[in-house]
Amino acid sequence: MPVIAVIGAQWGDEGKGKIVDLLAQKAAVVVRFSGGDNAGHTVINPHGEFKLHLIPSGIFSPHAVCIIGNGVVINPAVLIDEIEQLDKRSVDTTRLFISDRAHLIMPYHVLLDGLEEQLRAGKALGTTRKGIGPAFTDKAARLGIRTGDLSDKEVLLERLRFVIDYKNTILTKIYGVSPLSLDEVYRQYCQYGKRLAPYIRETTIMLEEALNRDEVVLLEGAQGTLLDPDFGTYPYTTSSSPLAGGACLGAGLNPTKISRILGVFKAYCTRVGSGPMPTELKDETGELIRELAHEYGTTTGRPRRCGWFDAVAARFSTRINGFTGAAITRLDILDALPRLKICVGYKLDGETIEHFPGSVAALDRYQPVYEELPGWQTPISNIQQYEQLPIEARQYIARLEELISCPVNLISVGSSREQTIFKTPIF
Ligand code: IMP
Repeated sequence: MPVIAVIGAQWGDEGKGKIVDLLAQKAAVVVRFSGGDNAGHTVINPHGEFKLHLIPSGIFSPHAVCIIGNGVVINPAVLIDEIEQLDKRSVDTTRLFISDRAHLIMPYHVLLDGLEEQLRAGKALGTTRKGIGPAFTDKAARLGIRTGDLSDKEVLLERLRFVIDYKNTILTKIYGVSPLSLDEVYRQYCQYGKRLAPYIRETTIMLEEALNRDEVVLLEGAQGTLLDPDFGTYPYTTSSSPLAGGACLGAGLNPTKISRILGVFKAYCTRVGSGPMPTELKDETGELIRELAHEYGTTTGRPRRCGWFDAVAARFSTRINGFTGAAITRLDILDALPRLKICVGYKLDGETIEHFPGSVAALDRYQPVYEELPGWQTPISNIQQYEQLPIEARQYIARLEELISCPVNLISVGSSREQTIFKTPIF
């Protein structure tokens, strides 16, 4: 049975939530493996509409065990609220588990995320200000506090005493803001620990057992490949790896186990926050896409930058993730457009390149080279068979397949589960 990684192939917000919710119906385990509550996975299904920030989108499948893996940074207040919201709406959360190795987002992380952004002034990264960067910084600096630490109050107090002292020096001496109270943070996190205790455990064993039983495991990515700290548009990136490679580390799964890697691509491109986006449309077509698709951040409400499909970036994404197939989402948004463009190269001073450059300074200077295709200008949201799509839509998909060098497994033409066209089998 396959282990399928569902990976954001662009700058996040590709619609991974819907795809995971759909595939989870056949899965025994679903693991979130990276990011934190900077993510916002929208799921619309028979239970209603949900915006999940931390809990895997598989939570609606009555048989799937859902794991928040070691690679996720957890804001306990957000997680508790999410659990309670789901409970209120009668979604069973007893199948949720949290890795005891996952790091916690602490009050100073959220504070510092905002203060660091202010200090960057004109060079702000446009982070979600959820404390994600500072929490991963502390993980690397060996200053982190993990969910497992919550189970032992003495260990927690000892860790906190050291770290809060350190953070308060930064808060007061560098940023000139008030220090945090050790007592308050300690009491608060003891309460969180008590509330979350039933969910926290060693989760790699659960994964191994599922694999031994030959069950389907889904690895749910957050953010997108082009936000990866190594391969994304650094420094305008997030701070954990959304890649297929990151899935192994963030779930605690050995790399030989992943059998399918599904790249989720929007039929066009969006980006939220700062940093280069070669195909961004700063005109009425960009605005039209934003309004038609309601392209506003699920987590922050910020308007997303919209643009044409960037096949140069997409090919790069396929190369570093090893996609075995693609899901193309929001194809229906293009219904209204008479002509469609796909970026097939980048041009500078008469020279064209077909690879995605590592330097943001270079990327900023390049102009996209477009190929034009006719639009279909007819609604496709009710179509369920690939053959029933207008010829222009099939031509568009065929060209994407060619350019990104992997087969399209499924196409999403609306937010509900039913609005999905299965083109070729995933497994
Ligand atoms: P951070 O992850 O909050 O530090 O933000 C770093 C960059 O990643 C910013 O440009 C954010 O807008 C972007 N980002 C983080 N999470 C998401 C997401 O889930 N979708 C899209 N962009 C994101």
